[in-house]
Amino acid sequence: MDEVVLAVLDRVTEAAARHDAAQEDRLDRWRVLEPDAGRFVWFLAQAVGARNIVEIGTSRGVSTLWLADAARATGGRVLSFDTDPAAQEDAARTVAEAGLSDHVEMRLEDGGAGLAALDDGTVDLLFLDAERTEYPSWWPHPVRVLRAGGVLVADNALSHPKEIAPLHDLLVRDLTAVTTIPVGKGELVARKP
Ligand SMILES: C[S@@+](CC[C@H](N)C(=O)[O-])C[C@H]1O[C@@H](n2cnc3c(N)ncnc32)[C@H](O)[C@@H]1O
Repeated sequence: MDEVVLAVLDRVTEAAARHDAAQEDRLDRWRVLEPDAGRFVWFLAQAVGARNIVEIGTSRGVSTLWLADAARATGGRVLSFDTDPAAQEDAARTVAEAGLSDHVEMRLEDGGAGLAALDDGTVDLLFLDAERTEYPSWWPHPVRVLRAGGVLVADNALSHPKEIAPLHDLLVRDLTAVTTIPVGKGELVARKP
């Protein structure tokens, strides 16, 4: 793991903890990926040789940094969607500070619409970290865009099991090796056969 990226990750993760502790409304919190979950997706992206990585839910770019550092190692890139312009502008500055801008494209767009516009079988790793209850409404695109052997990862499987349950059921129906990795807030993973 690149030292510059790790230093930026530490700074943003700490800033997010301070920011979130002061917010009453859940939607005002940055809710960034936990460090152990970040390290897990960083490893997984490289293990599957992910060159085309799609993320829904940029926020301040913490998961983007983990994924982009992996993409630099694989020669790939991260396409990251969010609907909050201030968050994405902040994330773009953070990604630049980490020296990873060449490996990230930010799109200010609804994640469901963004997925619907992607070609079949083109995504190696899809990371879902937006509003969990919306994911089923995006079907069949999360599965359609994955290549054979590609993986889907969704955060919050252990912190919000009831909200994640409809996604879990769709993954069991349409993908294989569906399981929850107990890191961070719980990473629900599945592989396209
Ligand atoms: C939990 S935060 C993402 C945290 C981020 N992955 C990180 O580790 O720093 C959720 C983000 O999803 C975004 N979001 C919510 N609904 C969305 C949608 N339909 N499409 C794209 N982004 C969405 C929110 O604006 C928010 O920034």
